[in-house]
Amino acid sequence: MKISAVLLATALTATSSVNAAPIADPGLIGNLLGSISQATNQALSNILGSLGVSIQNNAWKKGPYWSIDTSKHSNDKNAKHTLHSHPVNWKKFQGWDTYSAHGSNIGAWLAVENTLTPTLFSDGGAPGVPDEWTFCQTVGKEACGAVLEDHYANFITTADIDKLATVGINTLRITTTYAAWIDVPGSWLHHGNQQQYLRTITNYAISRYGMHIVLGLHSLPGGVNWLDIGEALGHLDWWYNATNFDYSLQAVDKVLDFVQSSVAPNQFTLSPINEPCDDFSNFATPNTVSYPDGVNYLNTYIKAVYAKMQKRNKNLWLMQNDAFMGAKYWAPFWNKGDKIAFDSHLYFFAAAGVYANFIPEITCGQAAATKPDGFNVFVGEFSLQSMYNNSFARRQEVYQSQVYSFAKYLSGSAFWTAKFQGVNPVDGEGTQNDYWNFLKLIDDGVVLPGGAINASYC
Ligand SMILES: *[C@@H]1O[C@H](CO)[C@@H](O)[C@H](O)[C@H]1NC(C)=O
Ligand SMILES: *[C@@H]1O[C@H](CO)[C@@H](O)[C@H](O)[C@H]1NC(C)=O
Ligand SMILES: *[C@@H]1O[C@H](CO)[C@@H](O)[C@H](O)[C@H]1NC(C)=O
Repeated sequence: MKISAVLLATALTATSSVNAAPIADPGLIGNLLGSISQATNQALSNILGSLGVSIQNNAWKKGPYWSIDTSKHSNDKNAKHTLHSHPVNWKKFQGWDTYSAHGSNIGAWLAVENTLTPTLFSDGGAPGVPDEWTFCQTVGKEACGAVLEDHYANFITTADIDKLATVGINTLRITTTYAAWIDVPGSWLHHGNQQQYLRTITNYAISRYGMHIVLGLHSLPGGVNWLDIGEALGHLDWWYNATNFDYSLQAVDKVLDFVQSSVAPNQFTLSPINEPCDDFSNFATPNTVSYPDGVNYLNTYIKAVYAKMQKRNKNLWLMQNDAFMGAKYWAPFWNKGDKIAFDSHLYFFAAAGVYANFIPEITCGQAAATKPDGFNVFVGEFSLQSMYNNSFARRQEVYQSQVYSFAKYLSGSAFWTAKFQGVNPVDGEGTQNDYWNFLKLIDDGVVLPGGAINASYC
């Protein structure tokens, strides 16, 4: 990682607020992150100065790593469960401390993913490309822009929101790329009319149904996790890079402009980074974010975002993704009463030894264990696929046990995702589409009208 005078100058002049930033307090410079140069630290301190945030250097405060204990199940692959009915009332949002989300993600819409909409890239003239970045590089900006704009206009419509409302969906988690907000020089991601489409859908969902919106900056400039969803496959330059840090905060400013000019700003929660990981070989392990430098760097960004949010609207909640390390790991960096909620992603499709009928038992037993005292957790992504023995007949029980336990012990959940086109076979019956496509699960009668619960293990 090389830092040049040019980069430093870019970081310092990129926004007017940065221009206005005071010369960094020497105390801030003292908080050097071990793995980056003094020049990058200086640049970061200048960016942070106007926000009153310092480079975080307290990774030692971290809480315990948490993972699902998959041993707490019956081990009987064919066990028949006694299932329970519960009255549910999927209320409107008044803050994460009192909320139970019954949510759906709106993925693959404004942040496209090859595995979710494979035909988008193949019909667009670039079959097999891994991500939007490579798609646009391959067919050119104009051609990819036309394909993507068409996708934004048609993939999700107000009719889809109507259908989600029939099953009691009160929360939409919507993923966007940073290019929906800012035009970063050198980036191949499409900077188009995403905000207009987002405006139509979110105003409709809020005005018509009182839904809450978890608005995700899924990717950030440079790449947050080496995956296609982090910017582009193989990209990891978001980390320890003052230029990309500065662009990220510019994107956050644009998101806040959008939220504040919506029909109901307080119906938005801001999720400023998704599944961050500074060394992909550690993805979904206790070191998904490295200790201490990754933790300090990520916390510096999150605290800067929080400071920006507080300046604009003190009622807005920040949702911090837990990077598969558990909310308890991150809670000690916050004070009770802060407008912070945590986002955990709980999947079983790659969990060794998990049969479909183990999911209800594991889920019900473990959901409570993820909640840090005094803080709230939202399961921002889950699905119905298990590693082994997927079965159509089990889907209702697997869905409801997760939704019910996440609402009972935590602040609810959002299924991944509303529309899903992947058709790879799964172990047992059916294809991915039968276990990940929410609108299809409504058609199949797996998700009941009003989000009723009559088949929960717990
Ligand atoms: C910062 O990231 C950009 C790509 O996003 C890269 O071109 C640049 O070299 C990086 N700077 C450093 C210091 O690594
Ligand atoms: C479940 O897995 C067992 C083997 O472990 C297999 O015999 C059975 O057919 C599977 N059932 C389904 C529905 O896939
Ligand atoms: C739950 O209700 C649905 C729809 O009425 C029904 O098909 C299903 O069999 C019920 N499940 C249980 C376990 O009662």
